[in-house]
Amino acid sequence: MTSLPSPVSNLVVLISGHGSNLQALLDACASGELQARVVAVISNNADAFGLERARRANVPALHRLKLPIQTRRAYDSDLADLVASYHPEWIVLAGWMRLLTSTFLDCFPNRVVNLHPALPGAFPGAHAVERAFAAYRRGEVTHAGIMVHLVPDEGMDTGPVLAQEVVPIHPDDTLECLEARMHAVEHRLLVAALKQLVNSQSPIADLR
Ligand code: GRF
Repeated sequence: MTSLPSPVSNLVVLISGHGSNLQALLDACASGELQARVVAVISNNADAFGLERARRANVPALHRLKLPIQTRRAYDSDLADLVASYHPEWIVLAGWMRLLTSTFLDCFPNRVVNLHPALPGAFPGAHAVERAFAAYRRGEVTHAGIMVHLVPDEGMDTGPVLAQEVVPIHPDDTLECLEARMHAVEHRLLVAALKQLVNSQSPIADLR
């Protein structure tokens, strides 16, 4: 007997910190806006508040710290085994602050989704919002942005873009104002991008 594919996609969400984007996904799953369920949340930081958010939502909350003696590839291999044990359709990097090697990524081709608080090609890496704000103050940029993209390889914050949105910066903004505006857009754009993925009937290759 053949079984029909489940209409609900399994998500494993990797986090490092506060987890407000994880919360947006949990809320969208709970409300039915997103036809998905978060089946595990994994942090590389035991103190990440996102783990508490997962526990409150009755989602397995795990942390995996990289041991000093462990190579990046050994850590990523263990992490891939753990993630695979939850059988996710999609792995979402929602504030995950470690670069993943091909040891991990090759286990999940076209299945890893990253959120980054900058537009494609602008401000890759950490502290993107602070750097965009400083660049605005120097008159070098007029706006910031958010993108959600697939992670095909070890490039930092690069890959096929699923969604992007310009975020304005205003002359009287403080960094805190801008961060709040960025977060609000992130939460909406991440859910929208995941909706597009879980609802898509097209092969993932078509998204490239
Ligand atoms: C977000 O700005 C995300 O784009 C960046 O880290 C932040 C995580 O925020 N990579 P949160 O943990 O989801 O609140």
